[in-house]
Amino acid sequence: MSVPPQPQHAAPRSPILGPALPLGLAVTAIGVLLSLAGAPMQPAVRGELAMPEPTAVQDVPAVEVGATTAADPCSEPSVLDAIAVADDAAIIAGFGGGESFRSAVVAGNAPCVALDDPAHVWVVVNKARPLVPVSFAPSSLTDLPLQMTTRSGQARTDVAAAVGEMVDAAAAEGAGRIGANNGYRSYELQVVTHAAHVRSSGQAGADASSARAGHSEHQTGLAIDLVACDSSCGAIEAFGSTVQGEWIAANAWEYGFIVRYEQVGSGVTGYKPEPWHLRYLGRELAAAYHQGGYHTLEEFFGLPAAPDYTH
Ligand code: DAL
Ligand code: ZN
Repeated sequence: MSVPPQPQHAAPRSPILGPALPLGLAVTAIGVLLSLAGAPMQPAVRGELAMPEPTAVQDVPAVEVGATTAADPCSEPSVLDAIAVADDAAIIAGFGGGESFRSAVVAGNAPCVALDDPAHVWVVVNKARPLVPVSFAPSSLTDLPLQMTTRSGQARTDVAAAVGEMVDAAAAEGAGRIGANNGYRSYELQVVTHAAHVRSSGQAGADASSARAGHSEHQTGLAIDLVACDSSCGAIEAFGSTVQGEWIAANAWEYGFIVRYEQVGSGVTGYKPEPWHLRYLGRELAAAYHQGGYHTLEEFFGLPAAPDYTH
């Protein structure tokens, strides 16, 4: 099908940091002062979503100590070498780790890092930031090593490996079996999925729970919707209150994932909470996100809130 043209970027709408700085930004600010970052069998038609209690803010370990940010990290030989082979983990390591990478991006000191490049783990896709190009598809997709409840059972190869390791750890720790509902969704499948939500919930209801085509993290291959599988697999809406869902909320960061849409972040993302929707950032960035106490990717990278479409 033909893909409608989309604007490359939407104008920022409003600042997101609110009255209180996230801990990571606060630590950075203090540091600066002291010393002078296939169609589904059933399209995911969902009714009204349950609204779980806000995720409890966990004890926040100290932000990494000892990492140094070079004056011009994009000129560091290790970063240049990693960029040449498109090795995201090595690029982040060349910056000095996840928090140093984040703070360099936020400070505008990382011109070699494009948050709108969907080929990288740091891409930010939201209602104001469509994929560029809007018809983007990942270069490598692999079947997820999980029980699936739809035919949309692929993700980026690195993401499939990480989620396999994560679900094995959950099972080994007694948290039960985890399956998945959707991994990668193409632009065309997102058109179908969002349209099904509009039919069942109306435009506003759909936009609060399903991304319009060209605006979904599922199109990057970096997102997976999990379900709990006991005797059989449950629905995504039930995941947050299962043993599996609680284990994921506490431990996913160690495997490179974040829960992308939390209740506390709804005003920033424009989505109802989705404790089942995991977004892969890689271990370094997910650890920095967790340790910094962030609840949205927009705040993590100092980007404007995007609760509404701008076109
Ligand atoms: N449910 C999320 C927002 C998506 O459609 O990508
Ligand atoms: Zn999802």
